[in-house]
Amino acid sequence: MKKLFIKTYGCQMNVYDSDRMTDVLAPLGYVPHHAPEEADMVILNTCHIREKASEKVFSELGRLRQLKERARDQIGRDMMITVAGCVAQAEGAEITKRAPWVDMVVGPQSYHRLPELIAKLDPGARNNVIDTDMPEEVKFDFLPEEVAHRGPAAFLSVQEGCDKFCAFCVVPYTRGAEFSRTVAQIVDETKKLVANGTKEITLLGQNVNAFHGEGPDGKTWGLGRLLHHLAEIEGVDRLRYTTSHPLDMDDELIFAHRDIPALMPYLHLPVQAGSDHVLSAMNRRHTADDYKRIIGRMRDVVPNLALSGDFIVGFPGESDQDFADTLRLVDEVKYASAYSFKYSERPGTPAANAANQVDEDVKSERLASLQQLLDAQQMAFNKQCEKSEMSVLVERKGGRDGQMTGRSPFMQSVYFEGREDQIGQILPMRITEGRQNSLAAEIIAAN
Ligand code: 5AD
Ligand code: SF4
Repeated sequence: MKKLFIKTYGCQMNVYDSDRMTDVLAPLGYVPHHAPEEADMVILNTCHIREKASEKVFSELGRLRQLKERARDQIGRDMMITVAGCVAQAEGAEITKRAPWVDMVVGPQSYHRLPELIAKLDPGARNNVIDTDMPEEVKFDFLPEEVAHRGPAAFLSVQEGCDKFCAFCVVPYTRGAEFSRTVAQIVDETKKLVANGTKEITLLGQNVNAFHGEGPDGKTWGLGRLLHHLAEIEGVDRLRYTTSHPLDMDDELIFAHRDIPALMPYLHLPVQAGSDHVLSAMNRRHTADDYKRIIGRMRDVVPNLALSGDFIVGFPGESDQDFADTLRLVDEVKYASAYSFKYSERPGTPAANAANQVDEDVKSERLASLQQLLDAQQMAFNKQCEKSEMSVLVERKGGRDGQMTGRSPFMQSVYFEGREDQIGQILPMRITEGRQNSLAAEIIAAN
């Protein structure tokens, strides 16, 4: 038995990929382990979306070097260090130059080849291997059939890559062109997850609502149709999907929210900015009004929709007026939760070369005022849940004795008194308090 420690940065797709790397390495005798200092293999599954995320990798590699040397010098154990994910893809050669103690570098589209790469490594010698190909073969066809136990709520990648080329974003370069898995593959993985006790499945894709996979009838299916099909599978109690682009919110998907009870009343639909001038410079290919119209249509079919989004402040050329437009849009639309970021220049993306970059101080000020507004909206959404009843999927133990935590239909974390044997159950609860980042609840006892 060999010990495997994976540290995951960034988005949910990386969480899924880390699980799949665990599946790939299981036949080689690797078993997940919680302590990196005792591991035979450490994998950093990295994120390149903003500068801060990338920098973390190099500081973590510094710490790992010490662990590796200690393992070798004190107990003669070889610790393999692997960098995976989007920093691996974007900076493969740079990593082995700056951190020659790294043994393997593997991109997000080639981690199914990990066993071959390990076989190529000459133990003890300094011959690191790099695989950042965008291979011809599709990794999903080569990943193991086995899907380990994932818990009550699990991720399932159905789509990867992006053809949208927003001017700020590295994803089209690190993850490559859009690709959708076949419906048959997705159904197969769904059944395995459900057989292992999963109740809630979140379909993942960088542009998940652009899904266009081959259906069992040989035709191309969109995400709405896929959701209908998955909802029919026995044991699939809850479905979600993330993350979406406004241009791909088609009628079939919008009506899926009306017609599929298992599809949760939650939507993560990033708009990034509220000014048409900035949206155009970002190459988003929609206006603020287009976005508001889509949200209006979604709310027509799901009146209690919990809306989430992403925002970037300080995109090159963003004026005070442009930023005011973002605040106005947020004020009108009303979010249940949202993520907001300062624009970060990413090498190789069109906006990185723009001359009209915004001052760091201005970005910080704008971020603070946007976050204040978003926090207030989140608090209002959570407060408005007080005294209501909702079904909660019990996920794990909470921090205190006897406390359990789970997820509401609206993606809120819910804390309540319960028991461990309730994990995996969907229980009716009454919300006793709405807080900034969670809800407190009590289980409604069955009579
Ligand atoms: N700078 C800041 N935020 C970014 N995002 C993507 N690229 C950048 C960047 N260069 C944000 C977007 C996206 C989310 C995943 O990350 O808001 O929706
Ligand atoms: Fe990046 Fe835009 Fe594609 Fe989202 S839609 S992954 S922000 S390029």
